[in-house]
Amino acid sequence: MEVFRTREELSRWTTERRLRDRVLVPTMGALHRGHTSLFDRASDLAGETGEVLASIFVNPTQFGPNEDFDAYPRQLEQDLTQCERHGVTAVFAPGPGEMYLPDASISITETKLSNHLCGASRPGHFDGVCLVVAKLFLLTQPSAAVFGEKDFQQLAIIRRLVRDLNFPIKIIGAETVRESDGLAMSSRNTYLSPEDRKQAPVIQQTLAETAEAITSGSMKTPADALATMRSGIERARGAKIDYLAAVDASTLEALSEFGSSPIRLLAAVYFGKTRLIDNVGVPLSPSES
Ligand code: PAJ
Repeated sequence: MEVFRTREELSRWTTERRLRDRVLVPTMGALHRGHTSLFDRASDLAGETGEVLASIFVNPTQFGPNEDFDAYPRQLEQDLTQCERHGVTAVFAPGPGEMYLPDASISITETKLSNHLCGASRPGHFDGVCLVVAKLFLLTQPSAAVFGEKDFQQLAIIRRLVRDLNFPIKIIGAETVRESDGLAMSSRNTYLSPEDRKQAPVIQQTLAETAEAITSGSMKTPADALATMRSGIERARGAKIDYLAAVDASTLEALSEFGSSPIRLLAAVYFGKTRLIDNVGVPLSPSES
């Protein structure tokens, strides 16, 4: 496995191998099984002749001034071992000065999908995500890129970025990987106190129960679903809800009724200072599928 720390090293490699099918998996490191599942998916997509490129970069432009950029876990050596174990061909792990010039002055703003949900409590976050992902796409020139459904709004925004800026890249969404008690894997789970860690699976449990009730027909309206989600999550000691939403899975628009659009339930919940996000799809009822 090759490791590139500079754009020059990366670009020599991409130029030599420009005809290969390349699948990119962008990450901020502190890799866990959620990330490695994306590497596995990328390896399947790349097949025998293609290659998997992982990027590891804690992107400063997507962190707000009071967020955890400095505290974000950095563990490159361990991460490289994980990449190697999961069939990654090469890793791009740029140093801090490598991605942004001090006087960089171009930004990217997505204006329809970014303002609510996580965008409401993290102003500018998705601008930073769009900027770094666009730069990574241009630097690494992949034919496909894999992102997790764990960050469902991010995935929708990246699909929009690719569509609206004509990146010739196929975006693949991969299912959320969970701990055995249902908690979605996240690098931020390590911030939780033991007590909060015990309570945190309530998010997934409540979303999944609500999804089931919608599918079975016993939960008739988005308002009922939101009320059930609220009371379920608020029962957990220490949980403070940031947002709950029942949206159209493709437009991310809040639903006022359940109709034929695919439904996604999303939540962001604080335990102490740690903000956890999760989401589940609502399977169609047997009569609709
Ligand atoms: P990061 O949080 O490191 O996540 C990298 C990728 O792993 C994202 O596509 C994310 O959705 C996916 N992921 C995280 N937890 C997961 C889980 N439990 N199951 C499945 N996939 C999971 O998301 C980012 O980094 C950054 O915003 C990035 C896209 C790299 C841009 O800086």
